[in-house]
Amino acid sequence: MSEAKKRLYIQEVATRDGFQNESRFVETDAKIALVNGLSQCGFAKIEVTSFTSPKAIPALRDAEAVMHRITRKPGVIYTVLVPNVRGAERALSSGVDEVNLVMSLSESHNRSNLRMTREQSFAQFTEVISVVAKTDVAINVSLSTAMGCPMEGDVPVEEVLRWIQRFADLNVHGVTLCDTTGMAFPSQVHNLCFQAKRAFSGLDFTLHFHNTRGMALANTLAAIDAGVDRFDSSLGGLGGCPYAPGATGNVCTEELVHMLELDGYDTGVDLAAVLDNAALLPHLIGHDVPSQILKAGRRLDLHPMATDVAGGLPEQRAFV
Ligand code: COA
Ligand code: ZN
Repeated sequence: MSEAKKRLYIQEVATRDGFQNESRFVETDAKIALVNGLSQCGFAKIEVTSFTSPKAIPALRDAEAVMHRITRKPGVIYTVLVPNVRGAERALSSGVDEVNLVMSLSESHNRSNLRMTREQSFAQFTEVISVVAKTDVAINVSLSTAMGCPMEGDVPVEEVLRWIQRFADLNVHGVTLCDTTGMAFPSQVHNLCFQAKRAFSGLDFTLHFHNTRGMALANTLAAIDAGVDRFDSSLGGLGGCPYAPGATGNVCTEELVHMLELDGYDTGVDLAAVLDNAALLPHLIGHDVPSQILKAGRRLDLHPMATDVAGGLPEQRAFV
């Protein structure tokens, strides 16, 4: 009997992490159509938008309209990024399945991104969690710069574990470890994931990689090796934090799914459907996307031989 394929859970973030970083405003109807398309692809979760200040992130100023008008597919978790109490109020009144509370593990990035100290973020989220815990909305916490900060450098593993502990004590459901600017490397990822999984077996961990230095796929394999089974990824490889110097796209969904399925994992994701949606992106955002698979095709998308060469082969000559 063949061994069952290991199940992995892929969480699409292009309409949040991707669009927040685009200068062209993607029209509300186009965002809704894209989320509806993504809902048919087999993702475990879709991060639809963020309830941030429209002055800070004008690209997502239509968060309420998008959340209210998408067609939800049963079984898919629709989540949103929340930076503060005000964002949590907006999210709860939009009927989200999950709030994804974000703060950074480096003081400099938290102040740049959220205009607060880490303690101020934690105080706001303690308040948010006490309110959300009374509802059936799930709570995930995204810890940015968990594998390096572009202003402060390395973040010690002990510091990451200390912050996870603080949120675990508040009974959150999940924690996302974010490599906000692609500073992580495979052995570092393996060590961090191994320690976090061992210390907090009751938490759902997600790994959120950016491909800034070309290591996102390698980091994913290292995380899987350490027992992680949930990954954020972005259609077309869009993404990036406007408040992190040098930040670029997330690990690309179609590259991730392509690799994992070849390696025998069950991602639940329909790669052909993902590629159909990814093909729409250049038109929506007005420029090319990083995706290699969109350009090169899948590994076994074969090409016809060039006719001038084929015509010269002996077995072909008889027919011309
Ligand atoms: N949604 C909508 N508006 C918000 C808001 C929210 N979640 N939080 C604050 N505001 C509004 C306030 O009402 C206020 O509006 P006003 O100027 O019309 O009175 C204004 O924003 C400033 O409020 P303040 O509490 O002083 O916030 P700030 O200017 O210090 O900004 C954040 C703090 C967190 C709201 C802002 O930095 C932000 O949204 N950052 C998002 C960062 C992000 O998404 N980064 C990428 C993903 S990691
Ligand atoms: Zn990100």
